[in-house]
Amino acid sequence: MPHRDGLFQDRTVLVTGAGSGIGRAAAVAFGAEGARVVASDVDPQAAAGTAELIDAAGGTADSFAADVSAESDVEALIGFAVARFGGLDAALNNAGVPGAVGPLDELDSVGWERVQNTNLRGVWLCLKYEVGHMKNHGGGAIVNVSSVAGIVGNPGSAAYTAAKHGVVGLTRAAAGEYGAAGIRINAVSPGLTRTPLIEGLKRDNPALAASLGRNIPLGRAAEPSEIAEAALWLASAKASFVHGHTLVVDGGFSVL
Ligand SMILES: NC(=O)c1ccc[n+]([C@@H]2O[C@H](COP(=O)([O-])OP(=O)(O)OC[C@H]3O[C@@H](n4cnc5c(N)ncnc54)[C@H](O)[C@@H]3O)[C@@H](O)[C@H]2O)c1
Repeated sequence: MPHRDGLFQDRTVLVTGAGSGIGRAAAVAFGAEGARVVASDVDPQAAAGTAELIDAAGGTADSFAADVSAESDVEALIGFAVARFGGLDAALNNAGVPGAVGPLDELDSVGWERVQNTNLRGVWLCLKYEVGHMKNHGGGAIVNVSSVAGIVGNPGSAAYTAAKHGVVGLTRAAAGEYGAAGIRINAVSPGLTRTPLIEGLKRDNPALAASLGRNIPLGRAAEPSEIAEAALWLASAKASFVHGHTLVVDGGFSVL
């Protein structure tokens, strides 16, 4: 069993958007730390593929298909995690889409709502059902995935920028509400990270993708595992007094 430090030994951890990119890297890392992982994604095959990776490495995982923007899906997802592994100790609310790029006066309502529904409403729905369980079962730790677009203005992606700023605010509000219940809630804000999401952005809006790649003091994009490590730390007992915080992991992009 390839457990690194056993940071999540005998803990059940849910990861949304676990079928690709940052979510897959994080799910695999949680598995390597001994977690029982529920790998969830709107794409059932992608979620199952991640669970198989964890199993193949000697870990414990199962998958569950859920669209985080659909309340009934999210309720069923939390119910599955609790029934399958006997509880829920930590969650990484990571599912997100780029979508709706271009000047905001050219955005349409459908594109705007798709981004809000997944990137902001989806995080709220996951929080709602995660804390609903955790507050009655000894607490837990939750990490929401925002973005550098949740820290600075990002021309050409107003819908995404607004949703990701919303995730930071939601994280702070939730931390204030549920700290007393023993639930730590934080966020991670990745900078440019080498995932399929960015490959899609390069196709759809090369100018925006190129601008995100410039002015990174460390001179490169992140690997998904580098974002996953930050999220794992926030969710672990090593961050036991970190609460309501947004950890920026962007190679210095947002300091310039
Ligand atoms: N890649 C980057 O540069 C970057 C930078 C900052 C923030 N982020 C954020 O990190 C998170 C992960 O992004 P990624 O780059 O790994 O993207 P990705 O496209 O590689 O993976 C995202 C996963 O989320 C799933 N997903 C999409 N909509 C969903 C929904 N409604 N319900 C459930 N699952 C859904 C997709 O099927 C996919 O498997 C997102 O929230 C994204 O906004 C990414």
